[in-house]
Amino acid sequence: MTPENMYPVKSAVKTKSYLKGMEAYQEMYERSIKDPEGFWLEAAKNLDWFKFPEKAGQGDFKRVNHSWFMGGKLNVTYNCLDRHLAKRGNKSALIWAKDEPGQYQNITYQEVYENVCRLTNLLEAQGVKKGDRVCIYLPMIPELVYSVLACARLGAVHSVVFGGFSADSLKGRIIDAECKIVITANEGLRGGKKVPLKNITDDAIKDIDFVKTVLVVNRTSAQVNMVEGRDYNYEEEIKKYRPVAPCATVDAEDPLFILYTSGSTGKPKGVMHTSGGYLTYAAFTHRYIFDYHEDDVYFCTADVGWVTGHSYVVYGPLANGATSVLFESIPSYPDAGRYWQVIQDLKATIFYTAPTALRSLAQSGDEIVKKYDRSSLRILGTVGEPINPEIWKWYHDVVGESRCDIVDTWWQTETGGILITPIPGVTPTKPGSATLPFFGVQPLIVKPENGEEVKGNGVEGALCIKSSWPGQARTIYKDHARFVETYFTQYPGLYFTGDGCRRDEDGYYWITGRIDDVLNVSGHRLGTAEVESALMEHPEIAEAAVVGYPHDIKGVGIHAYVILYEHKESTKELVESIKDVVREKIGRFAAPDIIHITKGLPKTRSGKVMRRILRKIASHEYGGLGDTSTLSEPGVVDNLVEEHKKLK
Ligand code: WT7
Repeated sequence: MTPENMYPVKSAVKTKSYLKGMEAYQEMYERSIKDPEGFWLEAAKNLDWFKFPEKAGQGDFKRVNHSWFMGGKLNVTYNCLDRHLAKRGNKSALIWAKDEPGQYQNITYQEVYENVCRLTNLLEAQGVKKGDRVCIYLPMIPELVYSVLACARLGAVHSVVFGGFSADSLKGRIIDAECKIVITANEGLRGGKKVPLKNITDDAIKDIDFVKTVLVVNRTSAQVNMVEGRDYNYEEEIKKYRPVAPCATVDAEDPLFILYTSGSTGKPKGVMHTSGGYLTYAAFTHRYIFDYHEDDVYFCTADVGWVTGHSYVVYGPLANGATSVLFESIPSYPDAGRYWQVIQDLKATIFYTAPTALRSLAQSGDEIVKKYDRSSLRILGTVGEPINPEIWKWYHDVVGESRCDIVDTWWQTETGGILITPIPGVTPTKPGSATLPFFGVQPLIVKPENGEEVKGNGVEGALCIKSSWPGQARTIYKDHARFVETYFTQYPGLYFTGDGCRRDEDGYYWITGRIDDVLNVSGHRLGTAEVESALMEHPEIAEAAVVGYPHDIKGVGIHAYVILYEHKESTKELVESIKDVVREKIGRFAAPDIIHITKGLPKTRSGKVMRRILRKIASHEYGGLGDTSTLSEPGVVDNLVEEHKKLK
């Protein structure tokens, strides 16, 4: 029986679901926990292995040496392409929804295979070998998918950098991963606007001598600077190579990719994922959590520059032989009906997006949604940040016409795939809750102060995971010590997620947001320290402190407190120049929403900035600022509050 406060599953979904009811979920979940070895070896059979692994999981969180399917041999691209050719050669692997509304290109498995093979041969000719890192800085075009899969075919390690990152960010990532080759485009197109990717790349690599090759895809007709002997036109080069290429045999634990993500301290870290476990997990979760079936048209709006795009635009869907939509544009171009138009045009059955997009689209009202036929939809997913219950209901009632099951999927770059989620057709849902753990996942809530586990229901604390799952990141590239320090030291023996979490009376999980110094802005992760150090590059800034505050659309907005060397009134030009330095150092999406120029910050007597107070002020919580008696100058708080009231 479904308790009253839950949304029952939809019968249209139930009939298709792989699992028949909650008992089946519970039975399978228990099996996955009691016998992870048997469970995951069974799941690994969904892949084609050159040598099937003898063991599933090994290692633990005390030694931080977890590994999966060690000794198993496979090739990731073989699993995403070659093995489908006999049965699905003429099936669309990708439907590219171009930036221009109404323009689509279907690309079959055979065609993707041939393009990937040509590129594999080209990369090999350029000297790329197994284990080498390849930087991919491309917009959402088919060549992005080809590049990723060509690397995997060679056993090379890709590092995709989201096209919204600046030259500085790109440079840092190329240096950290020591990429000898960069694949980019002359320009990107997003919402009708051009992004000068090649110029940014030129800027990023001008002082790096080890980048020997830049491959340039022409997405537009723009002519760009080409450096003789270093830069090559993708289309011209690719023609020289055969549409067939052997694939490397890699170990399950050989690296597949590095993906940079922000933490609470220091530079972004290169989260490293390996091959066999990652692909097993991406494919298995994609099948169960989206209830994927052969004739589905699957539309995940994420950019491949983020982990959602890796696992749920490329690897999971293609390993399952699915048709995956590759969406180049933005949700508001040419208007707020864009997603719904794509769903109508392509008859999408599964749709996966972020709460921030839904929040902004809901503002345009229901009419523009209803204008388009959404009757093909069966399952709706969200990811990236907590979803407010009102928006969840809007998604459910308006977008899904109360016919579709919603899966609110919680996971992270580091987890490789979804960890907490409903199973459509099976798990009764509650708006705003990611509900229950996926198979093999053991969430744990601990008291933040002492790491003690809080058992039972109706509890809250820091979210940890007790033991490994196949999709988990194995290390931070070239910095295992930091990996250990960041995730496994706070609460020894556990993986610490950085999120706060509540487990309600029914045992359902509610993610409450980051409890470290990481901001989740429109589903993009940013470290406060990272934004602060960008701000410090501004010649007039002497001190900066960045906090998050609740933002209607972005979920979390960025409030930057800055102290100038010489006090000046806040003018529009000054504020823009401060935002610009963050745009330049990180990327446009990282620009603070509020620049709060002030004369002093609340500090303890030992000189530590009291962020708790800054967060409260930024969130308009002027009362209850707590004990300010330990401040070195108590007057600063009143001053900040007065200034904040005047800010727009
Ligand atoms: C952080 C991870 C995983 C792909 C996109 C983001 C937040 C993610 C949810 C959700 C509440 C969520 C967490 C997490 N988050 N999904 N369904 N409900 N919060 O990946 O950039 O690595 O960020 O996103 O705070 O720690 P990421």
